[in-house]
Amino acid sequence: MNTKKLAAERAVESIEEGMTVGLGTGSTAYFAIEKLGQRVREGLTIRAVATSKRSEEQALGLGIPIVPFAEVGRIDITIDGADEVDGNLQLIKGGGGALLREKIVAARSDKMFVIVGEDKLVETLGAFPLPVEIVPFAHEWTLDNLKALHLNPELRLDNGDLYVTDNGNYIADCHGVSITDPAALHASLNAIPGVVENGLFVDMAHTVIVGRENGSIDTIT
Ligand code: A5P
Repeated sequence: MNTKKLAAERAVESIEEGMTVGLGTGSTAYFAIEKLGQRVREGLTIRAVATSKRSEEQALGLGIPIVPFAEVGRIDITIDGADEVDGNLQLIKGGGGALLREKIVAARSDKMFVIVGEDKLVETLGAFPLPVEIVPFAHEWTLDNLKALHLNPELRLDNGDLYVTDNGNYIADCHGVSITDPAALHASLNAIPGVVENGLFVDMAHTVIVGRENGSIDTIT
């Protein structure tokens, strides 16, 4: 069962004529963009804002009109995946490296629909390494500050080179942290000079749509 596709296609059913839609990034968001492209071909008129270059390219290839963030004003619904979702609908995102734009687009949206397979549901966040986007300047010192918080940061690599985000920054993946208070950790991380943003999405998900192996779909709000 493709649980990602199941959740993604259900979320796209909520998109209505004339809406402005935020397009997430990742293998689950991919299915949502495909389905949205199908609905656009069938006559749905929408406009979209993308959270990454790859999602933008996919959307444009499907005929989904993309508008720059500066021109959208507000966004009705953003549909995006997540790496982990806890029982309070707090999220870890950024496994695909697009966390900064994902967070900006989600923050500008009336509703954020999170689409996941059931394997992403956890009791406590943190088994998935928490991505933290950091600026290249003085990144060694930023890593020292993350280490001082016992976050075990490791710079993300891409084929042996440092991974660089769409915004020209690095990602430090923080390993083995049991995140019992996501809001407190979020605040501590973003207080470090050199940290641009982190992958904790606290109180941002409006609805989580979960595709299950048995073919059912749960909607949690
Ligand atoms: C991209 O930066 C991420 O936030 C993804 O949305 C998240 O990692 C989920 O990705 P998958 O849908 O590929 O699991």
